Amino acid sequence: MKKDFLALNAFSKKELDGLLDLALELKKKRKDGDKHRILKGKTLAMIFEKSSTRTRVSFEVGIYQLGGHGLFISSGTSQMGRGEPIKDTARTLSRYCDGIMIRTYGQEIVEELARYATIPVINGLTDLFHPCQIMADVMTVIEHKKGYKGLKFAWVGDGNNMANTWIEAAAIFGFDLALACPDGYLPDAKVLEWARSVAKSSIVVTDDPREAVKDADVLNTDVWASMGQEQEQKAREKAFAGFQLNAETVGLAKKDCIVMHCLPAHRDEEITDEVIEGPNSVVWDEAENRLHIQKAIMARLMGGA
Ligand code: CP
Ligand code: NVA
Repeated sequence: MKKDFLALNAFSKKELDGLLDLALELKKKRKDGDKHRILKGKTLAMIFEKSSTRTRVSFEVGIYQLGGHGLFISSGTSQMGRGEPIKDTARTLSRYCDGIMIRTYGQEIVEELARYATIPVINGLTDLFHPCQIMADVMTVIEHKKGYKGLKFAWVGDGNNMANTWIEAAAIFGFDLALACPDGYLPDAKVLEWARSVAKSSIVVTDDPREAVKDADVLNTDVWASMGQEQEQKAREKAFAGFQLNAETVGLAKKDCIVMHCLPAHRDEEITDEVIEGPNSVVWDEAENRLHIQKAIMARLMGGA
């Protein structure tokens, strides 16, 4: 296992499957008292340069349940916000803590942090990737569909950090993925090139949401304007018209499909209220699984579990 959890592409299918197994086991054994406290006395620094509900709470609760302690560090109220170099932050935190989780903008920031830190660094979302979320999502698929093998996954919407990470997941785990993204909002070209160079499964990008969702087992979407793109909201609303998970698009997928959204959702933009509240939606299990998969990631990286 690598020291850090920055992107799925650094890991083999075996390693990621192992993390999923550990997360499922930790979920089952969460009431096991002392046996569960595998990170007793360890501390996780949690750096946030963007807002969060799920990531912050699930990491903080997760490290606590494992017997450790999480420190919330907002970049705005730390010296990072005043321009202290990331490499100096990395070396300082490495003298106090046992791991760092960071949510930030560029992927190069988490990479630099990891390069200078002597402790594990976990990516809690960048503009390019959201690996903890996709691992929680795959875990949710396993629970609802008894595995991911042979399923068709569909993505409708922005070619953003979530879409990029799904592309990596499809290549590594080996499931088929069809993404419908409007022109100008395609996934990262380098991520796609890498995924297609290693994938044995099919990874298709289209501008037709109907084609992507047709007969799909797993449907996914995300907000049209991600954090940092708020000023593009209006332009994006125009570009993404028609790229919505609604009764009609969901009706083209398999009858027993599951609908996922990493949250927060903008109801009646990328997903209708009816669909997110409907019988196919698994968004609350998905949100819960952030806790379990991140405990597995921390246990493996910080505790050698
Ligand atoms: N899905 C997710 O990462 O949620 P938060 O932005 O609330 O952390
Ligand atoms: N794509 C979204 C995901 C939020 C969890 C964003 O980056 O804002």
